[in-house]
Amino acid sequence: MSHLEVTDLAVSFGRQQRPALRGISFTLGERERLGIIGQSGSGKSVTALAVMGLLPVHARVTGSIRLAGRELVGLPEREMRRLRGDEVSMIFQEPMTALDPTMKVGRQVGEVVALHHVERRGSIHDEVLVWLGRVGISDPARIADSYPHELSGGQRQRVLIAMALANRPGLVLCDEPTTALDVLVQRQILQLLADELADRAAVFVSHDLAVVRQVCRRVAVMLDGEIVEQGEIDEIIAAPRHPYTQGLIASARIDQVPPGHLLPSVADFYPGTRS
Ligand SMILES: Nc1ncnc2c1ncn2[C@@H]1O[C@H](COP(=O)(O)OP(=O)(O)O)[C@@H](O)[C@H]1O
Ligand SMILES: [Mg+2]
Repeated sequence: MSHLEVTDLAVSFGRQQRPALRGISFTLGERERLGIIGQSGSGKSVTALAVMGLLPVHARVTGSIRLAGRELVGLPEREMRRLRGDEVSMIFQEPMTALDPTMKVGRQVGEVVALHHVERRGSIHDEVLVWLGRVGISDPARIADSYPHELSGGQRQRVLIAMALANRPGLVLCDEPTTALDVLVQRQILQLLADELADRAAVFVSHDLAVVRQVCRRVAVMLDGEIVEQGEIDEIIAAPRHPYTQGLIASARIDQVPPGHLLPSVADFYPGTRS
């Protein structure tokens, strides 16, 4: 059975305008990762936000989004809020804007940890430090006591990943999680995501096919609000049907990037980077 089943999803923001999304359908197994690629403005973020139930209230959503069998389209916000974090979470492109600049990092992670599970053994603070360590932050106590602006971009993204994983949701939506980072940090974060998302379902949004190919087996190609092609990445690379996909592959220089899910650990290349 599919963990996530999106059927004929459409989203429009204004009466006159053409819907921003049209006829979006895809499925995702329980431990599967699906890449979504497409140029800027093609509807990747709107697709992810629709699954999260985070579109603005004036957005009109039709079609079906089923998460573990439950219909999300039309679900009241108070019920959606209960699912967010617990069953579905999201990692955004720009970690600075997703974090509260006025609050120390440890408290922000702590709020997520405390949100859905009131009774736990051990303190929230201890669990925050465990999560920060788990996402590769080398000095969790110091980082927990820092404000977001005192962290590097890579550290901020690690914090966001900790917040997205902290309640062990079955589905994680990653919206361009490495786009704002420089190349070395990008690799480290990709490796972290590949490790941490191995046992759950994930959607991995990127404009970069080479990035998606490193962490996903299947991909959906979006163009102007529609999915023009989807399937096994290697099959699509070998025989792209849509002209847009053909152009994307021609320019992606994918031959220079290692494919597959079993990336060697970044620590093998850059000793010390993950401890
Ligand atoms: N809140 C909004 N109100 C009106 N239009 C929006 C809103 N959010 C996104 N759009 C439009 O929807 C389309 C898809 O945007 P988006 O999903 O952000 O693209 P991307 O693939 O770059 O993530 C764009 O044309 C964008 O302008
Ligand atoms: Mg986007």
